[in-house]
Amino acid sequence: SGPLLMDPFGRAITYLRVSVTDRCDFRCVYCMSEDMAFLPKRDLLTLEELDRICSAFVGQGVRKLRITGGEPLVRRDIMQLFGSLSRHLDSGALDELTVTTNGSQLARHARDLAACGVRRINVSLDTLDADKFRRITRWGDLTKVMQGIDAAQGAGLKVKINTVALKGVNDDELETLLEWSHGRDMDLTLIEVMPLGEIDGQRIDQFMPLSLIRARLASRYTLKDIDDRTGGPARYVRVEETGGRLGFITPMTHNFCESCNRVRLTCTGQLFMCLGQEDAADLRAPVRASESNELLERAIADAIARKPKGHDFIIDRRHDRPAVGRHMSVTGG
Ligand code: GTP
Ligand code: 5AD
Ligand code: SF4
Repeated sequence: SGPLLMDPFGRAITYLRVSVTDRCDFRCVYCMSEDMAFLPKRDLLTLEELDRICSAFVGQGVRKLRITGGEPLVRRDIMQLFGSLSRHLDSGALDELTVTTNGSQLARHARDLAACGVRRINVSLDTLDADKFRRITRWGDLTKVMQGIDAAQGAGLKVKINTVALKGVNDDELETLLEWSHGRDMDLTLIEVMPLGEIDGQRIDQFMPLSLIRARLASRYTLKDIDDRTGGPARYVRVEETGGRLGFITPMTHNFCESCNRVRLTCTGQLFMCLGQEDAADLRAPVRASESNELLERAIADAIARKPKGHDFIIDRRHDRPAVGRHMSVTGG
């Protein structure tokens, strides 16, 4: 593939996250408000346009593509995008094509994902208690997610569980989630809640610093630092008692921006250079302007040249408005 995209801080951009829809069939309380407004469908890039933009990034040195949302598997015909992007795995231009999903639609897509060359997937799951699951997602059915995880493992996909640690909601359950995940041969990654978009309530009331959780887990388990890197922001430890891996994503208590390798594309063709900043570059105009990729490639290079150093998230009582106006579902994390 082509020359590396290098940002002003010397970070090579090799990872593109693509939110293929801002819609979701859940309304997790830390992610969205209950009456969340979604984009009109006419504003969406087509699957062909998404493919062209992703492919331009692959041509410019991106080695990892993650399809996200909203919930990516609610987008109509989304398997066509996986199918066409899989050619970059076959050619060796791409190391990894993967997805982050809430699992609700996974049962019917798991085999197709595997057939498209997807190897490992991330499933967001914050509790194993069906009532609590319904409260967090506002109406989600835990059984469906469990069927999705079963189907994914049955199709040979490696599954990682992502859990947002929520004070007073699931912080008492993290040991249970750990034993369950590792017992099923799945890594578990814990995530600190971030101030992205308005929700019904305040994130300070939900925020649980992972430094506290880590200390508590370290009193029950032997946690061995390992420097496995999956290309994402998680720092991993090996839990000796279970043999599994446990990741910590700590944007609030331990900033990891200096090793950032990624940018994110929205379903309308906006390229966000940082999850925690408002600046975006429009790639829809250049992709629509011409059949050739010249304008698009230039727009991508120009955008990378203005990638900021990092986010400045704050969660405290004096900052009751989120640092960033858009929700996680716009950029998919
Ligand atoms: P793998 O390491 O391949 O498993 O990927 P990942 O952890 O990057 O992907 P995943 O979709 O599981 O991301 C988990 C969460 O990490 C995201 O939803 C975000 O909450 C957070 N995250 C990912 N990238 C960034 C980033 O650049 N900045 C911040 N602040 N958070 C991020
Ligand atoms: N802060 C942290 N994580 C969030 N997610 C959604 N909204 C937030 C937020 N405000 C998580 C989901 C999923 C991933 C894509 O992002 O739970 O694991
Ligand atoms: Fe949907 Fe994921 Fe947001 Fe929950 S966290 S509402 S599953 S996008």
